[in-house]
Amino acid sequence: MPSTSSANVINLQERKLKKSSNDTVSLDVEPGTSPKIIAVSSGKGGVGKTNIVANLGYLLSNMGKKVLLVDTDLGLGNLDVLLGIAPKFNISHVLSNEKSIADILVDGPGNMKILPASSGVQALTHLAPPQLEAIRGQMFSVAAAYDAILIDTAAGISSNVLFFNASAREVYVVVTPDLTAITDAYALMKILSLQYDIADFNLLVNQAESAKEAQEIFNHLQLVTHQFLDISIHLRGHILKDDNIAKGIRCQRMVSDIYPNSSATDCFKAIARQIYETLPGPTH
Ligand SMILES: Nc1ncnc2c1ncn2[C@@H]1O[C@H](COP(=O)(O)OP(=O)(O)O)[C@@H](O)[C@H]1O
Ligand SMILES: [Mg+2]
Repeated sequence: MPSTSSANVINLQERKLKKSSNDTVSLDVEPGTSPKIIAVSSGKGGVGKTNIVANLGYLLSNMGKKVLLVDTDLGLGNLDVLLGIAPKFNISHVLSNEKSIADILVDGPGNMKILPASSGVQALTHLAPPQLEAIRGQMFSVAAAYDAILIDTAAGISSNVLFFNASAREVYVVVTPDLTAITDAYALMKILSLQYDIADFNLLVNQAESAKEAQEIFNHLQLVTHQFLDISIHLRGHILKDDNIAKGIRCQRMVSDIYPNSSATDCFKAIARQIYETLPGPTH
């Protein structure tokens, strides 16, 4: 039963996690003036972030929005693999000043633009603040051309991850019913709230057996965050466990593309519709 045991683990974590004041960043975007930047993040890896970013981006693009997907899993990026594209250049070329972000953007399925990360470059997993600022500055420089920018982050609580979450307008935290995914999501939200003053989080429950299970996980997380943290969390939806997702990955296609009538696609559509309503830009 996830609720009781995760409460115990979170209680333990509470004693271990301490507020730290280093690595904070200043945000220089006027609220409401730039396109919607959404970070999709998680404490634990392998919970479905990259899939979620790809499918939500694809559906929003099909609904007429101009969408940019940004892979900020800088050392182990795999958004390109999932989308079936093979970019020649990536963020490492921007950091070495060989290219600008506009140069490395590539076309993805459904009119999306993709900003690829590199894979297998360990030095990129812990960038210094000036390098992170440089990437963010370049990302903002192309932002005006898009209605929605979805950031796929690495897992965990590294300074890279915290930085890109803090650079977003909204943070979507992905959990699965796994106890460790739930406790790690709590830890991520805690650090983001303490170090970066993020007070609002959106929760997506992936690989859920049912809407009821997703609601229970949300209720539980809400209870413990209310007890220990000064934040609000909002359940933005769930994605049912669906083997069609893995089938799609094997042929480098998104489930919403090749299995439009699958249960996972229905879930993605419901979440995409919610996000669509909140986006700036003309509707089509
Ligand atoms: N709703 C789901 N149902 C079944 N399998 C899923 C679902 N979401 C993700 N997966 C599986 O989980 C794995 C990890 O997904 P991925 O998007 O790469 O996670 P992350 O980006 O968080 O590391 C994939 O291999 C995918 O097949
Ligand atoms: Mg990923």
